[in-house]
Amino acid sequence: MRYIMLGAIVAALFPLAAQAEGDAAAGEKAFAPCKACHAFGKNGVGPNLTGVVGRKAASEEGYTYSAALKGSGITWDEANLHEWLKNPKTKVPGTKMVFAGYPDDKKIDDVIAYLASKK
Ligand code: HEC
Repeated sequence: MRYIMLGAIVAALFPLAAQAEGDAAAGEKAFAPCKACHAFGKNGVGPNLTGVVGRKAASEEGYTYSAALKGSGITWDEANLHEWLKNPKTKVPGTKMVFAGYPDDKKIDDVIAYLASKK
């Protein structure tokens, strides 16, 4: 009986834990507008985003970054990526990434989970 109750508690808690993290599958859909400029494995209008989570900003070889992003001193952890995707120009004034940002925090977390899956 005790084990059955424990199982029920774990089952009840797990979905909450899962919701706090982004959903990579939903993030792939939310990434659609980014594809106009970004790819994985090669630079385009924007830099290659393979392995971007945890990377130092403006460090992708062969890509010409703005002076603003180069001088930002940012490392792309989840918190910095969140602020960046909310509003790139607020996070790094002078950036050349022309993207208004996502107002929806859930959508941002989903995109970050998707980026984290691209190693
Ligand atoms: C209109 C083109 C465009 C769109 C759309 C766009 N980006 Fe960018 N992105 C850029 C450019 C250009 C840069 C380089 C910015 C700089 O040097 O200031 C950049 C930089 C970045 C960086 C920093 C990479 C690094 O190496 O430091 C990340 C992360 C990023 N973009 C993610 C995204 C995501 C996620 C989306 C979609 C939600 C997106 N971008 C939409 C053009 C775009």
